[in-house]
Amino acid sequence: PRKIIIDTDPGQDDAAAIMLTLGSPNELDVLGVTCVAGNVPLPLTQKNARIVCEWSGKPDTKVYAGCDRPMKRPLVTAEHVHGKTGLDGPDPLPEPQMTLQDQHGVDFIIEALRSEPAGTVTVCTLGPLTNIGTAFNKAPDIIERVQEIVMMGGAYFEVGNITPAAEFNIYVDPEAADIVFKSGIPITVMPLDVTHKALTTKSRVAAFRELGTTAGIALAEMLDFFERFDVEKYGSEGGPLHDPCTVAYLLKPELFSGRHVNVQIETQSELTLGMTVADYWGVTDHPPNAMFMQDIDADGFFELLTERVARL
Ligand code: BDR
Ligand code: CA
Repeated sequence: PRKIIIDTDPGQDDAAAIMLTLGSPNELDVLGVTCVAGNVPLPLTQKNARIVCEWSGKPDTKVYAGCDRPMKRPLVTAEHVHGKTGLDGPDPLPEPQMTLQDQHGVDFIIEALRSEPAGTVTVCTLGPLTNIGTAFNKAPDIIERVQEIVMMGGAYFEVGNITPAAEFNIYVDPEAADIVFKSGIPITVMPLDVTHKALTTKSRVAAFRELGTTAGIALAEMLDFFERFDVEKYGSEGGPLHDPCTVAYLLKPELFSGRHVNVQIETQSELTLGMTVADYWGVTDHPPNAMFMQDIDADGFFELLTERVARL
């Protein structure tokens, strides 16, 4: 199996991504789950990650707490989408029994990349890029050892969900995103253009509930809560299930298509802070640095997710 580190800020859609990973042990070997402040503050994201591992029947998963705020800015959170706990839905939310690892998430990332053979570890990011940017600053030698980064973040034509110009994960820590996009590592991005096509419709959520398992029911309850934001605000058919698109790409890349383009991050302008400026039409001669996905086979994606959650 492919070795991966999951960097996350759970978040109901992060939870779905963790479940998809843990349900795919033949393909993915999770070295660790590193948590970051994002949707909610770090004390909640690290706790939520452990709850999800327990729902998944994988309490041996190593969960680490990383950075509690962006590299250069105050933290912006998204309780308006994810609820006060970050994982609203299942009521009550259980207290996790499994322990948090002592090591700082950033130190774990550095150590894992140094101790595994170079080019064998994929980093999958589901939140602001603070842990990754910090690790690259602290230990630049690890950069060339990363096999690939698969990221949920940014947007082409769907532009922004936290400001008119920016997607949440990039907006929260644009300096960290800038470091990552300048790293030279192969990057595959799942932007809003993809994730807004992966909607949690009634029948898709029902399929999780009908699994009748702890993980399936918890996922359905989380998504019932999660979808209300988009359904109420935009009248859409369901909520956009952003984060598991990254893991689905690692399992079944044929579900996605996109363009290899140059992407730069806006770190200065107040108006467009955190914008992913993607050279879609090749109007510059800046070399491509990211595979920016655009399309998804949404039915295939939900089939895969249901099948893997069923294995937990
Ligand atoms: C991203 O922001 C978070 O709210 C979600 O978990 C996802 O990672 C979508 O913009
Ligand atoms: Ca997330």
